[in-house]
Parts: sequence; C-alpha cells; structure tokens
Amino acid sequence: MEEEPEEKMIEAALRPKSLDDFVGQQRVRRQLSLLLEASKLRGRSADHVLLSGPPGLGKTTLSMIIAAEMDAPLRITSGPAIQHSGDLAAILSSLTPGEVLFLDEIHRMSRPAEEMLYMAMEDFRVDIVVGKGAGATSIPLELPPFTLVGATTRAGLLPGPLRDRFGFTGHLEFYSSVELESVLRRSAGLMEMNISSEGYSEIAGRSRGTPRIANRLLRRVRDWALVHGVDRIEAREAAAALDMYEVDARGLDRLDRAVLEALIHKFGGGPVGLSTLAIAVGEEVETVETVAEPYLVREGLMGRTPRGRVALPAAWEHLGLEAPEFPTL
Ligand SMILES: Nc1ncnc2c1ncn2[C@@H]1O[C@H](COP(=O)(O)OP(=O)(O)OP(=O)(O)O)[C@@H](O)[C@H]1O
Ligand SMILES: [Mg+2]
Repeated sequence: MEEEPEEKMIEAALRPKSLDDFVGQQRVRRQLSLLLEASKLRGRSADHVLLSGPPGLGKTTLSMIIAAEMDAPLRITSGPAIQHSGDLAAILSSLTPGEVLFLDEIHRMSRPAEEMLYMAMEDFRVDIVVGKGAGATSIPLELPPFTLVGATTRAGLLPGPLRDRFGFTGHLEFYSSVELESVLRRSAGLMEMNISSEGYSEIAGRSRGTPRIANRLLRRVRDWALVHGVDRIEAREAAAALDMYEVDARGLDRLDRAVLEALIHKFGGGPVGLSTLAIAVGEEVETVETVAEPYLVREGLMGRTPRGRVALPAAWEHLGLEAPEFPTL
C-alpha cells in the first residue's frame, strides 16, 4: 500500500520516548524505573529484562525507553533473525560496553543460539567453535557488559533456564479504557486532531485494551473526518468512522468475530481444539492464540477448557443469537 510509509512514520512519531511519557502499566513502570535508577547509581549496566504480553502493548517501545533512560545505544534484532549460533556470536561480540540488546520474539530463536545466549547472559562470555569434527576447538570470547531486553508474546514457550536468567520480568497487561483515552489524547495532540471526551471514550472502547490498535483506529477516524469535512469529532462521528471499518462497539474485528462465529456455528459452541479452530477461520494457530484469544477470553466471550475452546453465553449475545439452555462449559 502506498500509505504504508506514512503510517510507519506516524507510528514512530507516536511512540513515547521516556518512562514518564509511557501511559499506564503502573506496576511494570515503577519496577523498571527502580531497576534502572539503581543500576545508574551503581554505574553498571542494568540486569537483563524480559517483557511479555500480547502484541501492541508496548514491549518494543519499552526497550527503546530502557536504552534512552540508561543513555545507552540500542541494538535491535529478533529470534527469527538468529538461526545459527554464529549469527548471535557476531552480534554479541560487536556490542559496546553498556549497550542494550533488544531481542524481539525471543521464543523463536534456535536451540543452539539459545544455549549460547545462556552463557552470554550469565558470564558475559561465549565460546566460539572454530573448525569441524575432531579438529574443532572452542575459543572463549569475553563480552562487554550489556543489558539484554527480551520480548515475547508467549512467555510460556520460553525454556525455564532462559527465563531464569532474566533479572526482571515485566508482564504487560491490557490497558483500561481510561488509560487508552490518555494514549489517544496524547496521539491526537501530536496529530492536531480536535476530539471531544465522548469521542475519545468511543474510540478507546473499541481499542481492545491495546495502544497500537487505539492509534490505528485514531488514524482511521482522522481519514474519515478529513473526507467528510468534519473538524470536531464527537462520539457519533467516531462511531460512524469505526463502524465503516468493521470494528464493532466492543472492539471486535473481523478475525475475532470469525472465531466466535466458527465456534458457535461450526462446532456448536465447542469445546474444540485451537488448531481445528484456526483452520476453520483460515488463520495460523499462533495468530488465533496471540491476537484473538487473549482478548476474547478477557472479555468473557470465549473460555479455555482442558478439552478445548468454548463459546461463553456472552458470545451468543454479542452475535445477536440466543444462548443455548446449557452452555457447554
Ligand atoms: N504505554 C503506552 N503509551 C503510549 N503509547 C503506547 C504505549 N504502549 C504502546 N504505545 C504505542 O503503541 C504502539 C505499539 O507499541 P509496541 O510496538 O511497543 O508494541 P509491542 O508490544 O512491541 O508489540 P509486538 O508484540 O507486536 O511487537 C507504539 O507505536 C506506541 O506508539
Ligand atoms: Mg514489538
């Protein structure tokens, strides 16, 4: 799409640059602030940090903030980009003292790289294997102190030894409506939009507890207002714009509704296994599990049982159907 670069630019511009600017997540923010303050007082690089939580809640943003607050350079890479331990060795050996290494989607790193990372995190050392077979030797390499910031949407997938090597784990929660309204106010200010309180709360209510979605919906409302020549956005305008984009009053989008509809219409409300459900909606298991499910579960629309996923009575209601007498629980 042609507009993508502009969208990317706006997204970057909207990213908070300091902990004070970062809205919500009180607990994680306080804990992180203490950790960073203490390491600054000690004059050392901060302990390794693991950030977990659903997409779009601010993991990448926080990693940038950590580097900025520590006045340290930031190196960004991701699990899928590190297929061989050599890839990781190259990155680690080129770090400067105190550098923050952001490893996104850390659960998708290869096994050998993971094992190299254990040692690097704990002893700031890696063993580089030179040669092959019987003649292979390993050369130890000292690393400068660095702070690893790992991010994952699925903390449960991380092997215990890796999880244990982080000095601090911050679990990001979905944002409340009030917090999302603050995110929206901040963004609307930067984008010079004129929105009423009711307008903000209408958009916040449809943002699924997620700042990235809030910002995206805000941009769609901005487009709508521009095309319709609307200067001030009230609840009615916000609702009309978002209805047009098929984001319903509870914030469910097309995928969420597809999941609920499949659960109810194809599987009689469940229980049905996650992979079967994913196939029924034509999506990857991971997408259904990390993008749709957490919000549907939080909203009390879908339940998880040992035998699979079930639709809860609220799901029937939301789709305008009558819930069966004995919901399959
Ligand atoms: N606490 C916050 N306050 C204000 N804006 C936020 C906050 N958290 C996130 N955002 C906004 O939401 C967008 C998405 O955040 P970010 O990229 O950090 O999410 P993420 O957790 O890394 O997502 P993913 O798992 O998909 O990588 C950012 O562009 C940022 O502007
Ligand atoms: Mg990210």
